[in-house]
Amino acid sequence: MPSPDPYRVAVVCLGNICRSPIAHVVLDAKLREAGLDDRVEVSSSGTGGWHEGEPMDPRAAAVLSDAGLDPTRHRARTFTIDWYAEHDLILVMDASNRADVLELAPTVAEQASVRMFRSFDPEANDPEANNPDLDVPDPWYGGDQGFRDVLAMIERTSDVLVEHLAQQVPPAERPGAS
Ligand code: 4NP
Repeated sequence: MPSPDPYRVAVVCLGNICRSPIAHVVLDAKLREAGLDDRVEVSSSGTGGWHEGEPMDPRAAAVLSDAGLDPTRHRARTFTIDWYAEHDLILVMDASNRADVLELAPTVAEQASVRMFRSFDPEANDPEANNPDLDVPDPWYGGDQGFRDVLAMIERTSDVLVEHLAQQVPPAERPGAS
């Protein structure tokens, strides 16, 4: 029997060199640990195309390396209207990314696939409300501590997100089951 199409998740920030690449690498690792990597596919992009084709910011790469994760495979991509058809869930890093992504939606219906990444953060207060604190702060202009804070926020959020994703895909086939 052919395996079903994967559930496709996009993580989106502004430049696709700091926040969404960190989320992409962390989420891939946690999906692998959960045995979901063949059923959930992750992509990342930025709403601004300035860094298209570039590796991630060295400060983002450093915090991932320190955490034992591989930052080297990332190349920046740009979010376009096509990403709506190509993904089941689009997770945005802050309210400004959300506005930019929603503006590109082909119709209002597609906007339903857009959610704030931190709506899955167990430490965010009242994640279901229209909460201004759901931004993953942009660490680009700050120092290394900002990148460490972003990694911690993304790691705890990804743990809950992986539980959510497990419910979106059919259970793995049991060996020997027909
Ligand atoms: P990111 O951070 O959206 O987390 O990748 C940024 C990276 C680059 C720029 C802005 C934010 N920039 O203006 O080039």
